[in-house]
Amino acid sequence: MMSFDHFVAQLPYPPDAQQMAAIMCDDNCVVSAGAGSGKTTVLSYRFIRLVLEGKAKADEILTLTFTRKAAREMQDRIYRHLLLCSDDEAVAAQVADFGSTSIATLDSFCSTIVKLDSLHYGIVSDFSIDDEATTKSARQCAKALLDSWPQSEGARILSTLYSPDRLIDEVLLPLAITHYPLPRSVDEGAEATIIAEVERAYSRLMGDLVVILSRYASLSDGPVTVAEVANESSAILDRLASCASHEEELALLSSTIGHRRKPSGKKGDLLTISESWTDYLEIRMKVCIALSTLTQRDRLEAVLTFTSRFIEAVHTRKRESGILTFGDVANLAVDILERNKAIRRAFKERFRYIMIDEFQDNNELQKNLLYLLSERGDRERDGVPTAGDLEGQKLFFVGDEKQSIYRFRGADVSVFKVLGDELVANGGKAFSLATNYRSEPALIEWFNEIFPTIMAHE
Ligand SMILES: Nc1ncnc2c1ncn2[C@@H]1O[C@H](COP(=O)(O)OP(=O)(O)OP(=O)(O)O)[C@@H](O)[C@H]1O
Ligand SMILES: [Mg+2]
Repeated sequence: MMSFDHFVAQLPYPPDAQQMAAIMCDDNCVVSAGAGSGKTTVLSYRFIRLVLEGKAKADEILTLTFTRKAAREMQDRIYRHLLLCSDDEAVAAQVADFGSTSIATLDSFCSTIVKLDSLHYGIVSDFSIDDEATTKSARQCAKALLDSWPQSEGARILSTLYSPDRLIDEVLLPLAITHYPLPRSVDEGAEATIIAEVERAYSRLMGDLVVILSRYASLSDGPVTVAEVANESSAILDRLASCASHEEELALLSSTIGHRRKPSGKKGDLLTISESWTDYLEIRMKVCIALSTLTQRDRLEAVLTFTSRFIEAVHTRKRESGILTFGDVANLAVDILERNKAIRRAFKERFRYIMIDEFQDNNELQKNLLYLLSERGDRERDGVPTAGDLEGQKLFFVGDEKQSIYRFRGADVSVFKVLGDELVANGGKAFSLATNYRSEPALIEWFNEIFPTIMAHE
C-alpha cells in the first residue's frame, strides 16, 4: 500500500508540525483551533492516513459535519485525496466504491438510524422531515384543543395568563417543537421534576437576592437615596428572616417595599446601587415566579394535564402524517441507540473510526449519540455510556470554540469543552493549531507586488 509519507509528498504544501501531530494521533482526540487554521484539512488527511495504514477501509470511517454544504465539500476533499493514491490497487477499489462511504450531516445520519426502527414508535420508515409543516400542524392541534376543551382547568389558567396568540406561539408551540420532540412525552413524573427544578432555582436565586440586599444594607456613603435603599434592604432582610412560609415570602417580595426606579448618579455608594439595580429587580422577580409555582401546585398540575394532552395530540399527528422535525429525528436516533442494543452493536462494529467537523455547533444530544456509537465493544450500558466506557481510539472531534453559528438552534458551546476534558481525562489527546492559513493569500499578493520590482532591479 502507498505510504502516508508518499501521499504527503504529493501535496502542494505539507501539513505543519502541529497539524501533523493531530493527523498522526491514534487516540481519541479533540482539535480545537481558530478559523482557517486547517481543522478540516487535518480531518481529511487523517482519513487518508487511516486508509493508507490499513487501519480502516473508507466505508468503516464515519465522517460527520453540520451542514449539507460542508458534507459535500468534505466528500469532495476526501475523494480528491484518495484519487492521489489510486495507483494503489487497494485504494483504487475504495475509490470505485466511494458511494458507500459515510460522509454525511449529523441530521442525515440520524435519519439513517431512525429508518431502521421507526416502526417501533408507530412511524413509517419513509417519514419526511419538515419543521415548518410540523409547526403548522402543531398550531392546528393547539387551536383544536383549546376550542374543544375550554372547560379544562389547565386551559382556563393558561388563558388568564396569556393572550390566545401568545399562548399558542410562545408557550404551546415551543413546548411541542423544542421541549417535547418524539419520543418524549409529558410523563407522570413531570410535576415532581418541575417542582424539584423550581426548588433548586428558588434556593439559588434567593441566595443571590440575600447577597445583594446585604450589600445594599451595608451602604452609607452618598446622597439620601443611599440611606433609603440601605434601610429598605435591611427591613426586607429582617422580614424575610421571620417569614414562616413561601406564601409569606411571596407576599413580601411582590409588595412595593424596596421597589423604586433605578437610581441615577455616580456619587459614592449610589454607583454600586445604580449599576446593580436592574439585576436586583430581575432576581427579585424570578424569586417571585418560583414562589408562585411552589405555592400553587394544583394549578401546575392542571396546566400539565392540559399540556400533556396537547403534546400527545401533536405526536399522534406526526405518526399519522409521517412528517417529523429535525429534533424528533435526532431524539429518536439517540433513543433507538439507547434502547435497541442490536442496532447499537451493528453501528459500533461497522465504524472503526468516527470523525466530526465543526463540533462547536453541536449539543448534548449529539454528544450522547457519538458516545453511544463509540462505546467499547465489550460493554453494553443501559442508557448513554460515560467517557470511561468509550473505545480509546475511535473519536476525532474538530471544532472552534469561538465560532458557533448555531447557538440559536440549541447548540451549547460548553459541550465541546466538556467533551474535550472528558476525553483527555480518559487517555485522549487535545490539540490546537496556531497558524491561520487564510491570511496566506494576502502574503501571496504581497509577493506578487514585490517580486517583479526586485527582479526588475537586478
Ligand atoms: N499547512 C498548510 N499550509 C498552507 N495552507 C494550508 C495549510 N493547512 C491548511 N491550509 C489551507 O488553509 C485554508 C483553510 O484550511 P481549512 O479549511 O482546513 O481550515 P479550517 O480550520 O477548517 O477553517 P474553518 O474554520 O473555516 O472551518 C485552506 O485553503 C487550506 O488549503
Ligand atoms: Mg473547517
